[in-house]
Amino acid sequence: MDKDSQSSVSEAKEKNKTLTRRQFLSRAWWAAGGLLVIEATGGFIASLWPRLKPGSFGTKVKVASIEEARAMPVGTMAYFPEQRFYLSRVESGFLALYRKCTHLGCVVPWLADDPSEDDLADSGRFNCPCHGGIFDRFGIVHSGPPPRPLDIFPISIEGGEVVVDTGTVIERTSFDESQVTEI
Ligand code: FES
Repeated sequence: MDKDSQSSVSEAKEKNKTLTRRQFLSRAWWAAGGLLVIEATGGFIASLWPRLKPGSFGTKVKVASIEEARAMPVGTMAYFPEQRFYLSRVESGFLALYRKCTHLGCVVPWLADDPSEDDLADSGRFNCPCHGGIFDRFGIVHSGPPPRPLDIFPISIEGGEVVVDTGTVIERTSFDESQVTEI
């Protein structure tokens, strides 16, 4: 092999090396880019299902022991603001009332000094500040524009505790005794 051919062979080898290095770099960039896309997509998907803290709204909430619940006098209204519901003690048991007005969704306060709309106590009713919707201890509408009673959450007993499932909203068109949980 003469000198010229030797040098062209080594140039070709060098070119191949350069090409290989380029290919390597290109693949590395694609791989890094791919990882970034996967990570970003995973983060986005995870953000669609936010983790709920135990005991927060949207989860099962322990509210009292069975003994504590039974000791609540009829007519008592206990408010759980972070979990967005009221525990209403009625004659036959308990109702967990969602505080969201069934008209346009305002937070409905319990006004303990307002006149009562039911016969369980002399005073106390829900009075929605937005358009004057009035509800009693059962969540039943007495006046104003709300089209149906306050929604309720299921109540169960788990390990001796009264538990309200704030992840399950039950809409109702009227009140009936089957909605009350006996404890
Ligand atoms: S939002 Fe409650 S009465 Fe309108």
